[in-house]
Amino acid sequence: MFKKLISSLKQNPRTIVFPEGTDPRILEAGSRLLAATFLKPILIGSEDEIYAAAEEAGFNIRGATIIDPERYDKMDEMVEEMFKLRKGKMSEDECRAALKKSNYFGTMLVHMGVADCLLGGATYSTADTIRPALQLVKTKPGNNIVSSCFILVRGSATGENEVLAMADCAVNIEPNEDELVEIASETVKCARVFGIDPKVAFLSYSTKGSGKGDTVTKMRNACQRAKTLMPDVPIDGEMQFDAASSPVVARTKHLDGPVGGHANTFIFPDINAGNIGYKIAQRLGNFDAYGPILLGLNAPINDLSRGCNAFEVYSMAIITAALA
Ligand SMILES: CC(C)(COP(=O)(O)OP(=O)(O)OC[C@H]1O[C@@H](n2cnc3c(N)ncnc32)[C@H](O)[C@@H]1OP(=O)(O)O)[C@@H](O)C(=O)NCCC(=O)NCCS
Repeated sequence: MFKKLISSLKQNPRTIVFPEGTDPRILEAGSRLLAATFLKPILIGSEDEIYAAAEEAGFNIRGATIIDPERYDKMDEMVEEMFKLRKGKMSEDECRAALKKSNYFGTMLVHMGVADCLLGGATYSTADTIRPALQLVKTKPGNNIVSSCFILVRGSATGENEVLAMADCAVNIEPNEDELVEIASETVKCARVFGIDPKVAFLSYSTKGSGKGDTVTKMRNACQRAKTLMPDVPIDGEMQFDAASSPVVARTKHLDGPVGGHANTFIFPDINAGNIGYKIAQRLGNFDAYGPILLGLNAPINDLSRGCNAFEVYSMAIITAALA
C-alpha cells in the first residue's frame, strides 16, 4: 500500500505541517521525510528549541522549514482571516491568542495554502487536534459533517496484504441515519485511495431483522439510503460482524449478495462500537491500524495517537499527504 502512495507523492510532492515541532517522534519522522524528499515537512515552534531538541534526540532536520508563530510576519493577515472564518464566534483578540497555539496556527497555515495538509496529536488530545480543523478548515461543499475512518492492514502468507476500512471510530459519538449515510459515502472514497474495492456492511447486533431495537432500525434505514445513493457499490445490512466477515456464517444466515462474508468496509452504529471494534482488530487480530483519517474536510488534517511512535508518524504523514 505504501509503495503506491509514495510513488504517487513522488509525482506530486506535498507540504505537511507538524504542529508539535519539538517532539522527538516528529523530529525522527521529519528527518526521514527530509531524506526521502517526496514530502516537505513544516515544523511549528521556536527555531532554537527545535534545533536543540533535534540535536538532543540525534536527528538531522537540516533543510526543514520551521515557522515560529511568535515571529510569523503574516500574523496580522492570519488573525484577520481567522476572525472572518469564526463569523463573530471569536473576537480578534481571541483569534490572536488562539494562534499562539501551534494546533490553531498550523491549521491556519493549511487554510491559507502555505501547506497542503497537517498531522498533529502527538501531544495534543484528539479533540484539540480536530476542533481547529472543524472550526477553520471546515466541511467541504456538499458535506454536513466531518467523520473519520481507520485503514487496517495485515500481511498474509501469500504476500498480499489484507486491507480493511472501519468507520466512524473516532469523531461522531452517536451518528444519526443521515450522518451514517455520509460516513459510508466518505469511507467508500477513502477506502479506494488505499486500494480497497469497497464491499460495505452496515453493522449491528442484528442480521436482517433477527433482533429488534432503535439502533437496528437506524442501521437498516441508513443502509437502504446508502444503497440508493451509491447504486454501483455493493452495500448490505443491517448485519452482525460475523455475517459480514465469515462466508460460512453469511451462508447460514442466507446472505446471498456480494457483501455477506466478504465485507471489507465496515460502518459501525456509534463511536463505542467503532472504537472498540478497530482496537480488537489491532490488538487481537494483528492488523496495523492507520488513523483516525478525517473525512469530509476541505483539506487533509489527521490525528495521531499520543502513544504513537516515529514509524507511525512517518506512515500517517504519507497517508495524510496522499489524500491532499
Ligand atoms: C469532534 C469533537 C472533538 C468536537 O467536540 P467539541 O469541540 O466539543 O464540539 P462543539 O460542539 O463545541 O463544536 C466545535 C465546532 O466544531 C463543529 N463540529 C463539531 N462536530 C462536528 C462534526 N462532526 N462535523 C463538522 N463540524 C463539527 C461545531 O459545529 C462547532 O463549530 P463552530 O465553533 O463553528 O460553531 C467531539 O465530537 C468529540 O469529542 N468526539 C470524540 C473524540 C474522541 O474522543 N475520540 C476518541 C479517541 S480517537
